Amino acid sequence: MKTRIAEDYNATAGIYDMRYREEQQLKIGFLLNRVRLRDGDTVIDAGCGTGLLLESVSERAKAWLVGIDSSIGMLREAKRKGIEADLVLGDVENMPFKDGVADAAFSVSVIQLAENPERAISEIRRITKAGGAIGISYLKRAGIEPPLAAGIRAAVHASETLKDIFITGFRED
Ligand SMILES: C[S@@+](CC[C@H](N)C(=O)[O-])C[C@H]1O[C@@H](n2cnc3c(N)ncnc32)[C@H](O)[C@@H]1O
Repeated sequence: MKTRIAEDYNATAGIYDMRYREEQQLKIGFLLNRVRLRDGDTVIDAGCGTGLLLESVSERAKAWLVGIDSSIGMLREAKRKGIEADLVLGDVENMPFKDGVADAAFSVSVIQLAENPERAISEIRRITKAGGAIGISYLKRAGIEPPLAAGIRAAVHASETLKDIFITGFRED
């Protein structure tokens, strides 16, 4: 299943921004408007795709940006566009990052694709430092309950116009 998802995104990476950029940027704005970022922060985007969130973060703060995605095609597209970030090929359910390395961690429209969304959220919490910001969205139509892992103090927002459920908050301990 994971391989097929990665292959699907590899095949469509070149047209992803044309199709989804506008929609995703509205979701990204929704999350970033609810999370405080500072210059010098380390920001990790789990399932970064073509780097739309990383690009928006770079317009708001001088952060060290890291993106991880399971599709090499999406990462290549991010690189082709000149996204200035460290891009890592990997799985959001098992990220190759140490505990607590991120001042802020995000994931936009990804966890509904995970085999285990709760595990993905728990990984996002693990890589975020105590008190660090967390912003996650996933497609409403996936019909999953907000999978809040223990240890994230978060608010759940549903926008009338956007297709995702949004979770914003911070890692408690
Ligand atoms: C709908 S796109 C969203 C991309 C980006 N977050 C955005 O907002 O434009 C979903 C992304 O999740 C990635 N993805 C899906 N399952 C993944 C997994 N298990 N680990 C890492 N990335 C994954 C896909 O390759 C794709 O880039």
